[in-house]
Amino acid sequence: MIGRLNHVAIAVPDLEAAMTQYRNALGANVGAPQDEPDHGVRVVFIELPNTKIELLYPLGEASPINGFLQKNPAGGIHHICYEVEDIAAAAKQLTGTGARVLGDGTPKIGAHGKPVLFLHPKDFNGCLIELEEI
Ligand code: CO
Repeated sequence: MIGRLNHVAIAVPDLEAAMTQYRNALGANVGAPQDEPDHGVRVVFIELPNTKIELLYPLGEASPINGFLQKNPAGGIHHICYEVEDIAAAAKQLTGTGARVLGDGTPKIGAHGKPVLFLHPKDFNGCLIELEEI
C-alpha cells in the first residue's frame, strides 16, 4: 500500500541555525520559510534528489511542535511521511488491522494541500507516520 518516502520532518529549536547548517554544512537546497497557521508550524522544505526534509518550527502557543521540543530540547525526527494512492482505502485498511488514525479518523488537507492522515506512534514502533495521497 505505501509507496515512496515523501518526506522526513525534523522539529528544530532554532530554525535559522538549522537552515544555515543544512545549506552550508550539508550543502543542501534549502527553501524559504513558510508559515502554516492551520497546522501551527513554520516549515522549511529541503529538496533532496530522492525525497524531502521538512524543518518544523513552532508557530504560536498551541503549536504541536512546542510539546515535542519540550521533550526533545535539541530537536529530533518528528514524523515520516509515506505516499499512498488512495487515502480513504488506506485508512480503512489500517483501522481494520487495529491501527489508530489520529483525530477523528478522516483525512485532512495537509501542509502541501493534499489529503493526509497521521497514525498513532504507539502503534508503529514509536514513530509518528503521516500518509499523504499523491
Ligand atoms: Co509531514
